[in-house]
Amino acid sequence: MRIILVGFGVVGQSLARILLQRRSELMRGYGFHPKVVAVVDKGGAALDTRGLDLEEMLSLKVREGTVAASREHGHPRLSALDVIESAEAEVVVEATPTNIENGEPGLSHIKTAFRTGKHVVTTNKGPLALALPALTELAEYNGVYLRFSGTVGAGTPILDLAKKCLLGDRIISIRGVLNGTTNYILTEMDEERITFQQALEEAQRLGYAEADPSMDVDGLDTACKLVIMANWIMGERVTLEDVEVEGIRNVTREALEEASRRDCTIRLIGFIDDHLKVAPTEISKDDPLAVKGVLNAVTFTSEFAGEETIIGRGAGGMATASAVLRDLLNIKETLSTRLMT
Ligand code: HSE
Repeated sequence: MRIILVGFGVVGQSLARILLQRRSELMRGYGFHPKVVAVVDKGGAALDTRGLDLEEMLSLKVREGTVAASREHGHPRLSALDVIESAEAEVVVEATPTNIENGEPGLSHIKTAFRTGKHVVTTNKGPLALALPALTELAEYNGVYLRFSGTVGAGTPILDLAKKCLLGDRIISIRGVLNGTTNYILTEMDEERITFQQALEEAQRLGYAEADPSMDVDGLDTACKLVIMANWIMGERVTLEDVEVEGIRNVTREALEEASRRDCTIRLIGFIDDHLKVAPTEISKDDPLAVKGVLNAVTFTSEFAGEETIIGRGAGGMATASAVLRDLLNIKETLSTRLMT
């Protein structure tokens, strides 16, 4: 499978590391032979139709700040759109940062990939939060797949649990802790008695927070994830505008102490039932959603199976990259099945 990797930040580099580490197992276990034919970052691109040396890409990024510095394969200033348009590949992995103003540049990357017949795996929530119904239709129209497991729960298979494991049942409502950064901040404020600002800085240092941390603390990241889940799992056609959002800036240590006296805590919870809402919410310490640190937790209520809760790490480069790998393998499998029928 030939891959164009667009965005070589924390997630893109983590994917390169996983592909290097797992090369022989992927071949042996899944017959999967990924060949990254292009890597694009802010400085330009590196291209090689035979497959780039990912070790070289990683060390160039550290040493020179851009893969375009490659003497043999570098193309400074070559744009992602030009690469997606002209390079021959089956899949574009889109891992640029989320922008919820207009979804760019990810939105154009995805549309160009579809137009040129390429499947897309993305970790970018912006284009999905703003236009998932339209993008799903566009993918279908062009006969390609759009996969985005890493956008919700990082490596924790939250979307897959609902879509695949609960197949046939009807999910009636969802509630969840969907943002690792705010959960980390609330846990640290509660347990370590540190301020909101100190906890936020720590979350940024650990690489959990978005490039713009207001995405996390003002609840927008959780809102994007609700939109993705409502569309993908529940078949709704909603966008970010349909979500009522309140973040955690007004949650004080005093409020957390008050809640603790009632054997409760405060978590930023996203709700999907008759409408979509994000709000700091007091919950019992026994509630399965009362997870600590960077964990995410989601409770699905379905018609027949009842309540199911999934808990796992909700942020981090390697965790998110593992979801990208899952999506790549899923596309490979789906294509093989399609060939056989
Ligand atoms: N900033 C996000 C979080 C990353 O903290 O959950 C994963 O989407």
